[in-house]
Amino acid sequence: MVANLIHSQEALHGEFGGVVPELAARDHLEKLPGLVDGVLKKAGQEPDGIDRIGVTRGPGLVGCLLIGVGLARGLGAAWEKPVVGVNHLWGHVYAALLGRPELSPPLLALVVSGAHTDLVWMLEHGRFEVLGRTRDDAAGEAFDKAARMLGLGYPGGPALDRLARGGDARRQALPKPALPGLEFSFSGLKTALLYRLRDLGGEVTEQDRADLAAAFEESVVGALMEKLDQALDRRPATEVVVCGGVAANTLLRRRAGEVVGARARLTIPPLELCTDNGAMIAAAATYAPVNDLTVDPGLGW
Ligand code: KG4
Ligand code: ZN
Repeated sequence: MVANLIHSQEALHGEFGGVVPELAARDHLEKLPGLVDGVLKKAGQEPDGIDRIGVTRGPGLVGCLLIGVGLARGLGAAWEKPVVGVNHLWGHVYAALLGRPELSPPLLALVVSGAHTDLVWMLEHGRFEVLGRTRDDAAGEAFDKAARMLGLGYPGGPALDRLARGGDARRQALPKPALPGLEFSFSGLKTALLYRLRDLGGEVTEQDRADLAAAFEESVVGALMEKLDQALDRRPATEVVVCGGVAANTLLRRRAGEVVGARARLTIPPLELCTDNGAMIAAAATYAPVNDLTVDPGLGW
């Protein structure tokens, strides 16, 4: 990786407790051109030194995707460079390659983000097979909702992670979601937390909140690790990748190492490359087979 710049919209959306699509799109329009300039300067590169331009074409918010693809098309025309439409989910997996360039498929990947909880088998560059996914909430979404119930700000995942470090999961144990096969479900766990908070009434101490955060995290991470373990039994892989925003979670990073153990080599991208970033899209663009720029907010694997 040569240079990576991120403009966070956390402060922008934090005020509203979640992502406001209109504001997100407008902020993309305002900030993207400056970010492109900034990253070229940081890399010490002129546009001439670029091979291709990678841009996310989905899944995501349609307004943001259209602005990104529009800008990339414009730059491609002005600089006479090919523009490659990239699948955001592929990008998360390719983030792992930025830390370990020798990493190559076939590999087993657990992709955990704000909108996805997918276990995928990457056969080769650009070819993925979904082994399991969530039936309802994604793991990141579950963390964000739980954080909100615990009175933490947006985005909730990192705040819940910090709160959980001072808690003891055993004092407020919550059920671990149990589904057959390689599917996930987190909406029941969210309800369990809601009822527990209701039962505690006005008596919730700071320690209770930390214990609840730890218990919630324990249940989510426990479910994720149980399925990763089963997937690895079914598809013995030599390489395992755990990626996506939730892969920044402290407990998940530790547990993944324990679960994979000596069975395979585990790669988790460095923290700043787990949550959304441009470098992972650039990495995926290197391997993207087609020059398809169709924006698709619901793009799958
Ligand atoms: O991949 P990502 O940056 O954006 C999407 O593609 O959705 O993932 C964002 C999600 C959010 O739900 C956020 O709360 C969660 O990742 N997240 C975490 C942590 N850091 C980010 N969840 C738990 N622990 C963390 N440390
Ligand atoms: Zn993402």
